[in-house]
Amino acid sequence: MSGMAGLQRLPKAELHLHLEGSVTPELMGQLAPEASQEEIGRRFGFRDFAGFLECYKWVAEHLRGPEEYAMATRRLLASLAQQNVRYAEITLSAGVIIWRKQELAPIYDAVQREAAGSPVTVRWNLDAIRHFGAEHAMQVAELAAERVSDGVVSFGIGGDEVRGPAEWFAEVYKFASARGLRLTAHAGEIAGPESVWSALRLGAERIGHGIRAVDDPVLVRHLRDHNIPLEICISSNVATGAVESLRAHPVRRLYDAGVPIVLNTDDPGLFDTTLVREYDLAASEFGFSEEDLTRIVENGFRYAFARSAVPSAPL
Ligand code: HPA
Ligand code: ZN
Repeated sequence: MSGMAGLQRLPKAELHLHLEGSVTPELMGQLAPEASQEEIGRRFGFRDFAGFLECYKWVAEHLRGPEEYAMATRRLLASLAQQNVRYAEITLSAGVIIWRKQELAPIYDAVQREAAGSPVTVRWNLDAIRHFGAEHAMQVAELAAERVSDGVVSFGIGGDEVRGPAEWFAEVYKFASARGLRLTAHAGEIAGPESVWSALRLGAERIGHGIRAVDDPVLVRHLRDHNIPLEICISSNVATGAVESLRAHPVRRLYDAGVPIVLNTDDPGLFDTTLVREYDLAASEFGFSEEDLTRIVENGFRYAFARSAVPSAPL
């Protein structure tokens, strides 16, 4: 493997990727013809986490029904296929769909149809919005449970971890697990290591971001010893201000401490990135060797929730 071309060719997996966040400014121009280029640029120009959540909400609101979701899925899968991503766990913010009082079924059928026609193997993670509370999250978990043999592999929580503490969701996670869903949670992205501990107490098997674990050596050892991977999204953390600067990102420290990590884009349309670019950043900014990158690529398959669906070796 050498440089961007090698990274491009390498078969990869992506595990932390929001469908809604894959919408680019260009696609947004089609979804919101009433919005000027200037407005789109301004909304996509967020500088902090609150601004990011606002933008995410604005984009998601414009995915008005099955057709728009299908269009976004088609574009995302074309990009993934072009990058040689062979397996993707894509998060659908079912929480937004419920909040809009829409039915999940026609939307899920539409995105599944797109996935079926793609060379990328797709599994779905249904995500609830932490700051909408436990009742809302239970509705998402129930919808996910109905689809557990139909492409949904996991349940997760995203949104604001400060305004929606993990403790609220103990019953929801218990229910989801009992129904055969695998468990993930965004945590330790903008809140500290205690938030990651709380997610682990819920039974989360992977942590979305989890970067603040670096501030707690006991937690770092726990993640390493229990083989709990962090879904690392470098550009996301820079764009939302979760880290002060690219240089300040703890990915290297976490990796060197033996914490399993997987590289991801999170919201590639909102952060103007691709999975190939995230690997390239890891190499160019953090000195990851080809051997390191190969190991991280393998982690993408190793820590997938749908083991049987994953090619056992890069093709
Ligand atoms: N964190 C919190 N909320 C989100 C994210 C994220 O990474 N992506 C989409 N909504
Ligand atoms: Zn995310």
